[in-house]
Amino acid sequence: MVRLAGVGLLALVFPMVSMQSGPAKVRVGDGPSYTADGQLKFPEKYREWVFLSSGLDMSYDPKPMDMGSSTFNNVFVNPEAYRAYQQTGHWPEGTEIVLENRAADKGTRSASLNKAGKTQSTQMTGLEVHLLDSARLAPKHENDGWGFYSFSNPVSAEVIPRAANCYSCHEQHAAVDTTFVQFYPTLLDAAEKHRTASASFLKEMQGK
Ligand code: HEC
Repeated sequence: MVRLAGVGLLALVFPMVSMQSGPAKVRVGDGPSYTADGQLKFPEKYREWVFLSSGLDMSYDPKPMDMGSSTFNNVFVNPEAYRAYQQTGHWPEGTEIVLENRAADKGTRSASLNKAGKTQSTQMTGLEVHLLDSARLAPKHENDGWGFYSFSNPVSAEVIPRAANCYSCHEQHAAVDTTFVQFYPTLLDAAEKHRTASASFLKEMQGK
């Protein structure tokens, strides 16, 4: 009797446990949208998203060339993805991170007031996207649902092929889920708290 009751209880409890322990794939809805032929639509509202950081003249070359001018790269993410990341230390499905470039100049509109320092040009000089959409990209990208896009027009862009160096550099050096969280000041705490930083990033930090 006791054994039977025990088995019955286990059978009841087990399905619930296994349902909870499976990775609950959260998907947020304010990220990427696509054209009918599968191109990523230009993220019209990204300037209303959460601002992550501005890098100035970042270079991967140990001896960067002096270009005589400076460039800012500004990074934004869709708000629902930002909130999910802060809770878990991982990016949810539907994450869309935008990096835009702007020339650093003395201010096209406020030049009369600004005597030193630099502001960002009103004209954007480039826009790239890094997004997580496994349903769409994992079949093409061997199970890793991240994809890169570079916009040459303000309408739509094709996914960049997997062999491009975007993928290898981000995989080898980025702190969390192939994104450069180490350079986004409000994000590193969640990665530390939830221990989601990549092994390669932790190893890179040990050498510092
Ligand atoms: C040699 C390394 C390297 C390569 C190659 C590279 N990136 Fe990045 N990428 C970075 C770094 C570093 C950052 C962080 C930028 C910052 O802090 O502002 C970044 C950030 C980004 C972001 C913001 C989201 C994120 O993942 O952090 C996008 C979008 C992006 N890169 C697109 C691209 C695209 C598209 C390509 C290929 C055409 C590319 N990158 C190639 C190093 C690289």
